[in-house]
Amino acid sequence: MENSKIPKFKGWKAFKKSLQIPKDPLNFFLNDLKTYGDFIKYKIFHLNYYFIFDPDIIRYVLQENNSNYKKSIFYKELARLTGKGLIASEGKLWKKNRRLAQKAFKKSSIEEFSKIFYEEAELLSDEWNEKKEIDISKEMMKLTFQIVGRALFSANLDSYIKIMDENLSNAVECITKRATSYPTTIPYFIPNKTNRSLKKAIIEIDKIVNEIISNRISSKIRTNDLLDSLIYSIDEETGESMDPKQIRDETITFLFAGHETTSNALTWTFYLLSEHPEIRKKVIEEIKNNIPKEGRITIKDIEKLDLTSRVLKESMRLLPPVWIIERNSIGEDVLRGEKIPAGSIVTICTYAVHRNPKFWTNPDEFDPDRFLPKEESKRYHFTYIPFGAGPRVCIGNNFAFTEAMIILACLYRNHEPTLMTSHPVEMEPLVTLRPKYGMKMVLGKD
Ligand code: HEM
Repeated sequence: MENSKIPKFKGWKAFKKSLQIPKDPLNFFLNDLKTYGDFIKYKIFHLNYYFIFDPDIIRYVLQENNSNYKKSIFYKELARLTGKGLIASEGKLWKKNRRLAQKAFKKSSIEEFSKIFYEEAELLSDEWNEKKEIDISKEMMKLTFQIVGRALFSANLDSYIKIMDENLSNAVECITKRATSYPTTIPYFIPNKTNRSLKKAIIEIDKIVNEIISNRISSKIRTNDLLDSLIYSIDEETGESMDPKQIRDETITFLFAGHETTSNALTWTFYLLSEHPEIRKKVIEEIKNNIPKEGRITIKDIEKLDLTSRVLKESMRLLPPVWIIERNSIGEDVLRGEKIPAGSIVTICTYAVHRNPKFWTNPDEFDPDRFLPKEESKRYHFTYIPFGAGPRVCIGNNFAFTEAMIILACLYRNHEPTLMTSHPVEMEPLVTLRPKYGMKMVLGKD
């Protein structure tokens, strides 16, 4: 990497500017990229922040020198909910549990799960026959939660959905508030409104998770799902099984990471297709021409849906469910000639990376053709990272993509949801990127 001076903000100016982040983080990062370039430093009090949008540096941090970059403050806040589960853990513990969980995401497992993806989507499609209007964001949360429950925990989570949804929403709102107000975050032991609300939500979520785990243990049923591996795996080194707190942490991690992300990807896809009726018509035509008129939709069927898969990819470019990835540098490092002190916070705003005008023509435009094979082969690496990259890349990427494709195919086979006139749509970047007011849609049927 060549030597270069990077734009730097420090002192009062940096602090004042950083106060804008919690108000509108997406535009803050995007504007900084457009105004100051793809590598920027902020020094706020004793903390060194680096905002990176440059794909070469992103590759270096997430992949080449990933061992020098651990999960940052954002994940420490998330860990109030997910504990030492896979998302927020590090080192030996992460490695061991990543290997353990990986088994649940084998190609053959995804094949098996595809039946569940279809069955649950078909049930929802039948329910929609009786309805005229829906909040599609709520519908997708319910659907993906139920799917992750059946696939990874062999559990029917129907009765938990409402309470889980409410409490997870509260928890992620509080976690985001705390993470984005760092370093002026109010200590967790002080019972202000946010901290009280977060603690209350975690207690409720814990009740559900503990019930799911204890139901399985008392049933003595053995299956080959993720929960079975968590409960019955034996550590090769210590000969011990996983401790109950770790089982709880991994369970919450997968329940949370495995549904909210995919749900938002689907909600935004329905929204974008509602806003682009010509592309929607073509997607519906492709689905009707390539999958059976009724009954099971398989992985082989969705492999024929070129346009639909490009739409899904483009949707995750414009509105990436995970809009930010953050790391803390362990030791000193040099990024593009710039010395980075140990303990620096490196922020990768996926939302802005995906709209970098240097790599994307008309970046704000919805254009699924960007993902045609000839366009993809020209694309510079690390400019499209909806699932992250390097060793911490999303473990559920194939699960999620297959699930979303089957759901889109199944629901568009019978329905044509479009945005309810006058429903306000605004992005809300919490831990994931949600629609702030939900997404009310009218159900058309042909
Ligand atoms: C469209 C859907 C999804 C998106 C966009 C997404 C995105 C991501 C991203 C960007 C990361 C990396 C975060 C980082 O590097 O800091 C990640 C990690 C992770 N994801 Fe996903 N994800 C999705 C679906 C899923 C599903 C379905 C599951 C599980 C069933 C899952 C489980 C996880 C876990 C456990 C991690 C942590 C992995 C590790 O650190 O080893 N995700 N995801």
